[in-house]
Amino acid sequence: MKPLNRVIVLLQFLLITLSVSAQGLSWTEVAPGVWKAVAGKPEAYNLLTAADVTPNKTALARLEKAPFPLLREEIKVRFQDGKTYLRLPLDRTEQLYGFGLNFQTVHQRGKILQLHVDHYGKSDNGRTHAPVPFYVSSKGYGVLINSARYLDIYAGSAVRKDSKNPPELKDRNTDKTWSARPYSDAVEVLIPAAGLEFYVFAGPSPLDAVRRFNLFNGGGTLPPRWGLGFTQRVHRLYTAEQVLGEAREFEEKGYPLDFIGLEPGWQSKSYPCTFEWDKGRFPEPERFVRELLSKGVRINLWTNPYVSPEASIYPEIAPFTASHTVWVGAVPDLSMPRAREVLFSKFEQDHVRIGVSGYKIDEVDGYDSYLWPDVATFPSGHSAEQMRQTYGLLVQKHTFDLFRKNNTRTYGLVRASNAGGSSFPYVIYNDNYSHEDFITALINSGYSGVLWTPEVRASKTGEEWLRRMQTVCFSPMAMINAWSSGTRPWSFPEVAEQVKQMAQLRMQMMPYWYTEFAKYHYQGTPPFRSMNLEAGFGQEARKEKNSASLEENPYEEAVTREVKDQYMAGEYLLVAPLFTGQSTRKVILPKGRWYDFYTGTFVGNGEVISVTADLDKIPVFVKDGGIIPLMAPRLHAPKAGERVDMEIRHYGQKNGKYLLYDDDGETFDYEKGRYSWREIKVERQPDGQWKGTLAVAEPGKPNSVGTVSWRFMTQ
Ligand code: GAL
Repeated sequence: MKPLNRVIVLLQFLLITLSVSAQGLSWTEVAPGVWKAVAGKPEAYNLLTAADVTPNKTALARLEKAPFPLLREEIKVRFQDGKTYLRLPLDRTEQLYGFGLNFQTVHQRGKILQLHVDHYGKSDNGRTHAPVPFYVSSKGYGVLINSARYLDIYAGSAVRKDSKNPPELKDRNTDKTWSARPYSDAVEVLIPAAGLEFYVFAGPSPLDAVRRFNLFNGGGTLPPRWGLGFTQRVHRLYTAEQVLGEAREFEEKGYPLDFIGLEPGWQSKSYPCTFEWDKGRFPEPERFVRELLSKGVRINLWTNPYVSPEASIYPEIAPFTASHTVWVGAVPDLSMPRAREVLFSKFEQDHVRIGVSGYKIDEVDGYDSYLWPDVATFPSGHSAEQMRQTYGLLVQKHTFDLFRKNNTRTYGLVRASNAGGSSFPYVIYNDNYSHEDFITALINSGYSGVLWTPEVRASKTGEEWLRRMQTVCFSPMAMINAWSSGTRPWSFPEVAEQVKQMAQLRMQMMPYWYTEFAKYHYQGTPPFRSMNLEAGFGQEARKEKNSASLEENPYEEAVTREVKDQYMAGEYLLVAPLFTGQSTRKVILPKGRWYDFYTGTFVGNGEVISVTADLDKIPVFVKDGGIIPLMAPRLHAPKAGERVDMEIRHYGQKNGKYLLYDDDGETFDYEKGRYSWREIKVERQPDGQWKGTLAVAEPGKPNSVGTVSWRFMTQ
């Protein structure tokens, strides 16, 4: 070798060594199948410190063992201008999902996003209620960037000169396949901080990666049984008498109701808030709450956290609030223990102690026009940006703690969340009110450890009312949010009966919903999730067409087919909603035999079917061997210890097996082992008949099952 060449080789060697050490990534397997990497000087305050939850390592250890899913040397970091650049590799056929609560798209590969807590503004640009910096790959792994900063994400959109797998060079003059979006083999992230902590979650399947993510965040939430019942929100200026009257009407008309939500007018002043009952509308709050409770109906309170200068807690909390106000209300620095103590002891005293069941915590997401600006300061020293990214987590965590102290579960609503929030008993909602977007959000929620409700507010027609009601009954919270419209389930007489049946079906399915939520909690499996997480469903980002007519629009993007209007609900159900004006739609069935939920008849196997459904039915399909436990129809969730009769349904030709979850449904005693999983089996007998069995209840364990009857749906 010539001396000059030797020098070059030596230089190359040095460069490689330097880039490895310049990466400065230190890796630790922090839980089975979960690796943490630290680069530079990560900030002490991040999403996981704000959420402050403990990973469920026992449950993580029960998942299939999996090796580190990427090539470590292909993960790179770089520091410049006090910022950190992170790069992760992508394969040619890989699709990406997640990056928070998106409303219009499921496939995220090729996206440029700025993850930023905000009210969704009709574009999937990263500004959303839960911009969770976690993505899942179709190859079966997940990545979480644990930073409370606004993050710039290039999710396979930017092409590097040093790409290992570069796109083909094409000539636009003559080549019809030229694309304005050439293939990129990297996810690149810009973190505006001098260091970073991030996590890699192993599969082997994409669903396993999601499970690990949820379990690492403490496991999914387990709502109280009543949380899965029906809920109505009433006009903001309703009085106690009017609320009681509303509950009475539900009862008399035979519509289920488990909790009623009060909107701003329960407070003496709102926007900004006093957190105090209005003496005129609610002269005796405790009596009011207890009276409803005695009728099996709970109360949920709307609030935002912005403190009115006229609130009794104002003088005490003022020193612990931000430099800027929201609607002239002080913004508590909820990262400070003292601010939390002052605010939440008010909640405890005035609400939780008298039996209020939960909150709807509004407006912690934005819009920019009213939220604290990024130039605001907080007494803890955390920046306005960090507070914005974590405020939703903070309000959830610390209100949840109030109920936990009381050994009473809660289930409420919140408008912002982030990574780390899987175990918080809150469902996200917004004001966008597009039925289609609401379903896509429901699908995406399952990738991010959050829950979403496609709430029903008002409708132009009975058809729309019923169609929306159907999807809300197949979601984490069956809610009518009638605060401004005053609509009630029976408001459209032409569909009032169908709406009632739908709401009753929601109630009947409670044992199934409850068990599926228990799987979210104990196993990390999201109860409502994308078809892409279902085995036997094509994962690839199939390029459908690149219609780019170069004359008309040279930059037109290639269209990839994504499924954003059908989803999985629990282990066995595939839900394919119909929207107003539709009576027929296509449904993509994963491999395996599928059956109609209502009749048990076979509908198809790994194929695209066209379904026509009457107005009173939402198309729902059951996997072969599916078991759905139902309880007798009723207006309120069963109370702790109450036994209810069950009808257990079996679908298809395969034998079936299901583990039915049980506990008291109201307290945290399940954390002390007071729960059970009882095996349900349905097997074909030698004479061709089906036979079902339910394992006997373990002595001393909760048992809410009364008499069981069996229904073999497929003949
Ligand atoms: C909105 C919220 C609505 C309702 C309303 C009350 O911000 O999204 O659901 O609660 O405030 O003022």
